[in-house]
Amino acid sequence: MEQETDTKTHILAIPFPLQGHINPMVQLCNRLVPRRIHVTLVTTVSIGASLQIQACSNTMITIETVPDPPIDVRENLDEYEISHRRFRAAITSGLPGIIRKQRDAGLHFKAIVYDSFIPWMLDVAHERGMKGAVLFTQPCTVCSVYYHMHKGSLEIQRDEVSLPGMPVLGLKDLPSLVCDMSSYPSLLEVFVKQFSTFEKADWRLFNTFDKLEEEILKWMANKYPIRTIGPTVPSMYTDKRLLGNYDYGLSFFKPNTDSCMKWLDKKEDRSVIYVSFGSYADLVDKQMREVAWGLINSKFSFLWVVRDTEESKLPRDFTSELHDNGLIVNWCSQLEVLSHRAIGCFLTHGGWNSTLEALSLGVPMVVMPQWTDQTTNAKLVADVWKIGVRVTADENGIAMREEIAAGVNDVMQGDGGL
Ligand code: UDX
Repeated sequence: MEQETDTKTHILAIPFPLQGHINPMVQLCNRLVPRRIHVTLVTTVSIGASLQIQACSNTMITIETVPDPPIDVRENLDEYEISHRRFRAAITSGLPGIIRKQRDAGLHFKAIVYDSFIPWMLDVAHERGMKGAVLFTQPCTVCSVYYHMHKGSLEIQRDEVSLPGMPVLGLKDLPSLVCDMSSYPSLLEVFVKQFSTFEKADWRLFNTFDKLEEEILKWMANKYPIRTIGPTVPSMYTDKRLLGNYDYGLSFFKPNTDSCMKWLDKKEDRSVIYVSFGSYADLVDKQMREVAWGLINSKFSFLWVVRDTEESKLPRDFTSELHDNGLIVNWCSQLEVLSHRAIGCFLTHGGWNSTLEALSLGVPMVVMPQWTDQTTNAKLVADVWKIGVRVTADENGIAMREEIAAGVNDVMQGDGGL
């Protein structure tokens, strides 16, 4: 047994504890496993307790948890800063114990793969004689905006930003936190600090692929050695022969996959709109109402993921209008749904994982960006790759039902030039 494990390389993986960051990290790990790399994924006890293992066959990914130490929150900190500090305190105090335990068992970690949101992990790796690989989970175009902020070379002139290797970005196309720098200052700091240890990292990994963001990737690669590892969509969905190889996932939510599949099986090819705003977006009540009536007005069938924390925002008389034309679920296996022949388009917030998944599975998008990178992702989808349309919000930031219905009609009826 010992001989077998000795022939493997051991690495640590530390994802940032949000669904949109865990997914690409786990998929990257899934691809390392067949290369005889043993992965130990580390998170905190509290995060580990709320994560469910989705599927698993002969995986070599081990999960270790570290205690959540109390932190002093007497300072005036916002929720992002508190959760960030808590995570940092837990990982830095708990990691040495995990490394020691493995060393005592005769195993030596060679490297730490860590999320770009936690750049301080590089020093932790180097101090313990390991290499550090940083994983960026957002598009290189978006990361480059933060890179320029970090370097002090981001200039907004006449409401536009023009940067090397990138399309010109108007204010509505910039990452939302950059467009309105005072909105979430501590979160913006996290994005900009992604580059604080970038130059010292041993590997710089981006969840994208070369043809997708060719020019900006070339520009970045001219400055630093980088690697693209995307799209991190499990190949079992794009190549059924690989089924079983990449089937390990970790989720904060329990999917209602059976009811979705049974419902979709009864629908005609490309007749259903799939709707999801990801794991984190928090739509205001009015926006939920506009989406609901926009979908009803479009006259197409739709499958809408409404997380249980969002359910109370649905209009009261809406569910009685659904009949068999609409299905609401709290969570689904998005890849299975997007792969279903009945799906005709994806009404999405434009999260980077959702964008890559729709792109990889050939589903056109109607993008209703909410915040952070989604505004820039929407620009790429609609104007650069032309694989979807963008729903424009009004001056209060609300996308109205008429706009939403028009967007899905364009895509479902093929009038969007797609
Ligand atoms: C966030 C950001 O929006 C995203 O742009 C950033 O790069 C990562 O963090 P999130 O808002 O959750 O993530 O969106 P997204 O990136 O699209 O990730 C959602 C993930 O959850 C996708 O992998 C999607 O397949 C999965 N999902 C979503 C499900 O498995 N089931 C669902 O019902 C809904």
